[in-house]
Amino acid sequence: MDVITSSEVVGSYVASRRRQGETIGFVPTMGALHRGHLSLIELARTHADIVIVSTFVNPLQFDNAEDFDRYPETRLADEEMCRQRGVHVLFRPTLSEMYPNGFATNVHVEGLSSILEGASRPGHFDGVATVVAKLFNNVDPDVAVFGAKDFQQVAVIRRMAMDLGFRIRIIVAPTVREIDGLAMSSRNVRLDVEARRAATGLSKGLFAARTAFRAGTTSARTLVDLVVGHMRTSPLVTVDYVQIVDPYDLKPVEDAGPDDVAVVAAIVGGVRLIDNLVLGDDDCLEG
Ligand code: PAJ
Repeated sequence: MDVITSSEVVGSYVASRRRQGETIGFVPTMGALHRGHLSLIELARTHADIVIVSTFVNPLQFDNAEDFDRYPETRLADEEMCRQRGVHVLFRPTLSEMYPNGFATNVHVEGLSSILEGASRPGHFDGVATVVAKLFNNVDPDVAVFGAKDFQQVAVIRRMAMDLGFRIRIIVAPTVREIDGLAMSSRNVRLDVEARRAATGLSKGLFAARTAFRAGTTSARTLVDLVVGHMRTSPLVTVDYVQIVDPYDLKPVEDAGPDDVAVVAAIVGGVRLIDNLVLGDDDCLEG
């Protein structure tokens, strides 16, 4: 595995592999890799000959300086995991590589960026769209893999890629969960024991909503109340939003259908967590 910090070097690596007829799969991450990220790498391997993983903690997408400072970094473990999984290139750009002096460009996806997570974290999706556009240009992959866990991020990136003419196939990998249902996240390590227990309320609520939907409940209001009820069983959970949304425009629906998505965000013991579930999906609790 090559560890590359320069976009020029990654660019020429990709060009030479492509000349040999190989296809390039790309998994952008912010490091602190866990099983969720590894499932993306596995999926990328099935769609491309060469797998490139990037680990870059992107300051532009943090609306909160403390969250950025406290974002976990596990560089050696990340490198080892990538090596073990047969990743060909670990792209680890430096800050000045990504944002040279005087960097002044912002990629803003209108509409999708200002609701749900965007409403609670102003500027977050501009940071995501900007860094992903830049990474797409640097790496120039054929396919890129993203996690369904960040459902709104996928919608923003798909829109951005379509609007800006990136010829990159976007593939979405299902959410990987802990045994008790909690969606894996790099931020989970910041949960103390009590908060970790309380955090299961998010997925418990989502799965309860899906069960109710299957049993015939389509009122979004009833489903939302059910989710909120599960989340509020612990005082450590502060609900930010719970909605049933349309998968395309992410707008709330009144009468839920099987493609609609239950989305939640909460602060649990000081840590912001998000999760979602497609009401009609039949994926099981465990990843
Ligand atoms: P990060 O949070 O590191 O996540 C990298 C990728 O892993 C994202 O596509 C995310 O959806 C996916 N992922 C995270 N947890 C997952 C889980 N439990 N199951 C499946 N996939 C999971 O998302 C980002 O980084 C950044 O915003 C990035 C796209 C890299 C831009 O900076």
